[in-house]
Amino acid sequence: MTFEDFKIIQTASSVPRRVVDNDELSTMMTTSDEWITQRTGIKRRHVAVQETTSSLATKVAAKLLANSGLKPTDIDLIVVATMSPDYLTPSTSALVQGNLGADQAIAFDIDAACSGFVYGLKVVRQMLKADRPMHAILIGAETLSKLVDWHDRTTSVLFGDGAAGVLIANQPDHTASFISEDLKTLGKLGKYLTAGQVGVKSPFAAAETTYSPFFKMNGHRVYGFAVKNVPESINRALKQANMTVEDVDCFVLHQANKRIIEKIADTLGAPMSKFPVNIHEYGNTSAASEPILLDELVANQTIKRGDVIALSGFGGGLTVGTMIIRY
Ligand code: ACO
Repeated sequence: MTFEDFKIIQTASSVPRRVVDNDELSTMMTTSDEWITQRTGIKRRHVAVQETTSSLATKVAAKLLANSGLKPTDIDLIVVATMSPDYLTPSTSALVQGNLGADQAIAFDIDAACSGFVYGLKVVRQMLKADRPMHAILIGAETLSKLVDWHDRTTSVLFGDGAAGVLIANQPDHTASFISEDLKTLGKLGKYLTAGQVGVKSPFAAAETTYSPFFKMNGHRVYGFAVKNVPESINRALKQANMTVEDVDCFVLHQANKRIIEKIADTLGAPMSKFPVNIHEYGNTSAASEPILLDELVANQTIKRGDVIALSGFGGGLTVGTMIIRY
């Protein structure tokens, strides 16, 4: 028997307890709750105090196991999508594997910034095609607060920390979950959103080498990229599936800016009621934003078994990606 398709068995999330609202930010820089709310929809964000990307991801993985009844050694694959790992090596997923005692699992990270969860779903789906039952954990986890220049009001108000993920099992039924996908990378536009530049420091490096650890973003360019490329990606994925926007029960979009989501809904000709938003609570948590939203929507039964959902991410790279699945 071959196991060609996959199914999301569980969802879980974990965010830092420390909440920083717009009023608190207004005491640190020249900004206001009114500006941030009007331009982005963000009211507050959760920020790591002692938490790390791997500690948040480990909590998510532990919840997924506890809720499923599986043992750590039942897991075959752990993938963490992150642009803010604890180390360049070991990978965040290897740290999670060790913390869990998931000794049978292979583990590696992927970095596709805010598209990381959709890119991760594609990778996991391919790797679970096998002739035996397998289980994978896919987590989006970020501590973006360490990549933010907290004196730069143009970027610091946008980002937050958090993690969420899914437990996935492969399935023999070809129609279990996957419907269609569309992924695209526009590397020539990568300069419009950078963070965590790593400089060369060695006896051989030019003395004047400078590098920038913090977010730098051309907000207008990224905004324009998102409102054009996300609807195009969703439409290509719908076309492949012979579907229209009416066939989709819920669009789970990367939470970067409420105005971007409203514009995307408008371009697609779909009502905002199909585009749930939780950016007011978390800000932009990059690879974690879609699974955090998915976990909330599953918990409050907005998304039910059998629903058609379109997951769509966009951001650094620049990258964009959509996967349509039956939940
Ligand atoms: N508080 C108050 N004023 C501010 C702030 C702030 N936090 N930030 C900027 N301003 C000022 C600017 O200095 C400017 O002032 P000026 O007119 O005197 O020059 C004014 O507000 C307007 O600034 P704009 O940059 O034109 O504001 P805009 O309406 O474009 O909104 C924003 C900026 C929210 C960043 C928007 O461009 C955006 O959402 N871009 C997309 C960002 C995004 O989605 N990133 C996702 C990818 S993230 C990832 O992949 C990790």
